[in-house]
Order: sequence, then structure tokens, then C-alpha cells
Amino acid sequence: MDIGKIHFRNNLFLAPLAGYTDGAFRRIATEYGAGCCVTEMVSAEGLARGNDKTADLLKRFDGEKELIMQLFGPDVDPFTRSLDSILKYEPTMIDINCGCPVPKVVKTGAGSAMMKEPDKIGRIVSFITKNSSVPVSVKFRLGWDMESENYLEFAHVCVDNGAKLLTLHARTRSQGYSGVANWAKIKALKDEFKNTDIKIFGSGDVFSAEDAVRMLSETGCDGVMLARGAIGNPFIFSQAKALLEGKEYTRPTVDEIIRTILAHYDYMCEILDEKTAGHEMRKHVCAYVKGLKGASRVKAEIVKAVKREEYVAALEGLK
Ligand SMILES: Cc1cc2nc3c(=O)[nH]c(=O)nc-3n(C[C@H](O)[C@H](O)[C@H](O)COP(=O)(O)O)c2cc1C
Repeated sequence: MDIGKIHFRNNLFLAPLAGYTDGAFRRIATEYGAGCCVTEMVSAEGLARGNDKTADLLKRFDGEKELIMQLFGPDVDPFTRSLDSILKYEPTMIDINCGCPVPKVVKTGAGSAMMKEPDKIGRIVSFITKNSSVPVSVKFRLGWDMESENYLEFAHVCVDNGAKLLTLHARTRSQGYSGVANWAKIKALKDEFKNTDIKIFGSGDVFSAEDAVRMLSETGCDGVMLARGAIGNPFIFSQAKALLEGKEYTRPTVDEIIRTILAHYDYMCEILDEKTAGHEMRKHVCAYVKGLKGASRVKAEIVKAVKREEYVAALEGLK
């Protein structure tokens, strides 16, 4: 799949997930076939102020080629001050977060609060487009709430100012992550931009490979952002790819799941110190083992695990 001059190996992307899509998880997702990954949301203000922890979120894992870097901020000002910093990381695309529902973010006017004032996104997209050659994308929701659904109008403001890729998380801000994502609206967005070169990605309720394939066929969207369905389940990428190629897929064996968890742990240790990696890895393991025989035993052990050998021992519970 191509966006302008950029070639992506497929149209199944790992969505931005704060607290999850660091270099280690992106590496695992890429190994299982993700077409591209998006960083966690990064504060444009933090970047402008030279905050090292913020900048760390933009680092690629060794060998990572394409990487979409996501920024959030309440208006164009922090973007004008952080553009030079982000360009040093050579983003494949810059994505603007207009979907985050978290109160801490929306009360500053950023995230999904941007949907209340579409002029702001216009200024941000226009500024980046005019001052860099990096294509801009925008990820947004249906609107602030059901009464103020404005995703089509919002999308036009993004495109009129130069955005090349739009990702719609088909819920309103008021819905948070509850209820059902309305895929019909993803189709409506795709129809709105048919016969243009604007790429439309869908997001929301893709929990299995079958869901990803169904979203593509039911909505006609150009690609899918896999989010919660990929946490603890990077296998979803290779499974969806197999289905799209008309093949069947096999579910990972317990041994493969254990190997993947330990590779994930090792990659985590390459980017973090052992103690932090050991703590960070726990939530991933809980997701990896969900629904497996012996999962509760593993979860009970994992709350104390930090070192690799402690993880290896805890995972014995699956055998
Ligand atoms: C833990 C968590 C963190 C998220 N972080 C981000 C983020 O940093 N940026 C963003 O645009 N969306 C973020 N999202 C939203 C997802 O990218 C996605 O749009 C949403 O979860 C809907 O897809 P799903 O129903 O398939 O999970 C996050 C979602 C979750 C559950």
C-alpha cells in the first residue's frame, strides 16, 4: 500500500496505544507482519521543551523502517515549537491525535477536544504540511458526543489543509471505549473521499483476524488500525494476512506464545533497564496468557517477576 511516495508492506497497522506501543511491542508486531506501527501519543509541548522521556517515545527499534509518530497538543503553538525536534527522528508520517478521551488531555483542549474546534486541526495540519515534506495524518473520533457528530466536516478540514491519511475510531468521545464502534461511519467516510488519493483507515472493535478482514470488506476502507486486539496477540497480524491471501491460519501453540513473550521481554530490556522492563512486561504477559490453561497461576507469579529467569519460571505454569 502506498501513501504518496511511501510504500507500506501491507495495510494492517499497529494503532497508537499509550503505555503499549513502545519499540519492543512494535518490533514484535512487525515480526508478525504489521504493515507499519504508530508510536504512543507524544506531547508536542513536552517535545518542544526538550523533555528526554517524551523524546524517548520516538526512538526506533534497530532496523525499524517506517514509523508513524503521533503527537498531541491543544493548538498549533506547541507544534510550531516542536516540529524541528520531531523531524530529527525522521518520521515516516506525523499523526495528530484528535481521539484521546482522557480527562487530563481533553481539559487542555487536546485529544478528542480538538473535535469541538475543527479550525485548530486545520492550523496544525497546514503548519506541518507547509514546513516539512513529511505527510500528515489525523486520527479522530465520530465527534465529541452523539449530538455533535461532526467527523465528515472534521475530515474535510484535515484534507483541505493537506492531510493524506485519516483514521476514524468509530466512537464518540462520550463513548470512551464502551459500546460498539459504528463501522457504517467508516464506510461513510470512505465514500466521502472515494475517487481521491486520501487513504481512510478504520479503528474500533477489531479483536480478531476475522474482524480485520470484515472491516476491510464491509467498509471499503484502505487499511485497519489494530489496537486492543493486538495487545498480547501480535499473531493477529499474520493471521489476518493469511486470511487476506485466502489461506487458513493456525493458532499459536503454548510454546510459541512463551517464545514470543520472552522475545518481547528481551526487546524490552534493550530499550529499558531490567527493573523497568520487568515491571512493564507484566501487563503484556497478562494479556498474552488470557484465556489459556494455567493463566491464573502465571498471573499470580508474574506480579513478582522482574528478571528473565523469573519470567521463564512463571511461564512454566502454562505447561
Ligand atoms: C490502552 C489504550 C491506549 C491508547 N492510546 C492511544 C494513543 O496514544 N493514541 C491514539 O490515537 N489512540 C489511542 N488509543 C485508541 C486506539 O488506538 C484505538 O483507536 C481504540 O482502542 C479502538 O480500537 P479497538 O476497539 O480495536 O481497541 C488507545 C486505546 C487503548 C485501549
